Amino acid sequence: MKDIYKSAKESLARGGVDTPDLDARIILRTILGITDSDFITGADIKVESHERDRIKNMIERRLAGEPVSRILGEREFWGLTFRITPDVLDPRPDTETIIDSALKRFGTNPPKKILDLGTGSGCILIALLHEWPQAQGVAVDMSEKALAVAEENARLHKVDSRIRFICSDWDSNLNECFDLVVSNPPYIPNQVIANLDREVRNHDPILALDGGDSGLQAYKKIFSGLDRLINAEGRGFFEIGYDQQNDVTRLAEDSGFCVEAIHADLAGIGRVVEISRGDK
Ligand SMILES: C[S@@+](CC[C@H](N)C(=O)[O-])C[C@H]1O[C@@H](n2cnc3c(N)ncnc32)[C@H](O)[C@@H]1O
Repeated sequence: MKDIYKSAKESLARGGVDTPDLDARIILRTILGITDSDFITGADIKVESHERDRIKNMIERRLAGEPVSRILGEREFWGLTFRITPDVLDPRPDTETIIDSALKRFGTNPPKKILDLGTGSGCILIALLHEWPQAQGVAVDMSEKALAVAEENARLHKVDSRIRFICSDWDSNLNECFDLVVSNPPYIPNQVIANLDREVRNHDPILALDGGDSGLQAYKKIFSGLDRLINAEGRGFFEIGYDQQNDVTRLAEDSGFCVEAIHADLAGIGRVVEISRGDK
């Protein structure tokens, strides 16, 4: 195994992959079913020829720009493993800011009903329901295929009985109120998409990225219908791009909401806008 690991990480480094060591480890760990301590202790493990072929194939895919999570079809988010397919966004660590800030806000009094607009893999809603065993949720997406992935993940994490899945253009098919609304909508200005890293541009679905000319199209649409979805004491948590804090704050306020906080991600960048109905 040691020789394969060494050659895999060297070939990834030569190919310009940012994290050759980590990527090689994850691939070998998955295919060989070994632990991190096997790498640390330097244990030598016999590799069968079919395993060698699979590793080679995965290293080639990584060199061609496919992220490791896409190659393996799974991604860890909030300590849970989510299945991902080409139909859903690869969940990002920054999005955990929504989970962290909502948990802190609600403390010992969790919301009963949660709405996730643009659920994708279901990672946000499923992580929240995992934390709050009494809560129920509605997962909305315009993509039927994404909803199927979210449903599979909900079953995997045993929260499927607490989620309804609704195919809808944002709020179009919704007629109920929630204590908590969460969303990580598409927010990349469309002219920027061609310049994104190939890992993103070639592998995340365009529906999950494209925020229209300004990047703000989804927020405009969501905020315009939010009034009838959010309870009097309810809260909304919306992920934003690194430079969208002022624009999204203005859009929320123009729709009559009060911005309660901007929550920073681990890099210190304002990543989540928290809103309430204020004094309305
Ligand atoms: C940035 S992804 C977020 C996925 C997931 N919530 C996450 O954080 O990993 C945005 C999601 O919004 C969905 N979406 C895009 N436009 C939509 C619309 N008009 N109505 C409902 N969902 C939409 C996409 O299909 C995609 O799953």
